[in-house]
Amino acid sequence: MAATRTFSIIKPDATRRNLTGAVTKMLEEAGLRVVASKRIQMTREQAEGFYAVHKERPFFGDLVEFMISGPVVVQVLEGEDAVKRNRDVMGATNPSDAAEGTIRKAYAESIEANSVHGSDSDENAKIEIDYFFKPEEIVG
Ligand code: RTP
Ligand code: MG
Repeated sequence: MAATRTFSIIKPDATRRNLTGAVTKMLEEAGLRVVASKRIQMTREQAEGFYAVHKERPFFGDLVEFMISGPVVVQVLEGEDAVKRNRDVMGATNPSDAAEGTIRKAYAESIEANSVHGSDSDENAKIEIDYFFKPEEIVG
């Protein structure tokens, strides 16, 4: 299968604990290549727009507050079947359900402060990449 791309965020709980490198190492060891990366402070508007699909959920307000509570690292990852490959190494949303060897098992603090985001489909990966990156910022 040809290489595809997905979008990743190293969330504020992980940047706060200086885990950018440790998380990226697990992504790379899972066969993903970082083809774009930048550390940003998301604005409230950016976070609300990014998580708009969750806006009716009870956790939406807390999620937005968490995502703007500190810097994040947004990344484009490339690899064979990148969306699934990334979801597999991320582990379950709730770290208490996450499998051994996954990023969330190793590092997540809670169901909310769960260290990483990863796109859930090729279609959403494209939307999310375009939300944060200009084409010239991605160098494969
Ligand atoms: P993500 O979008 O961050 O990759 O995570 P996911 O697909 O595993 O989880 P999703 O259902 O899309 O939820 C998005 C993020 O919202 C927070 N969340 N909090 N308090 C709660 O019950 C709750 N449920 C979800 C998490 O940060 C989750 O990653
Ligand atoms: Mg999700």
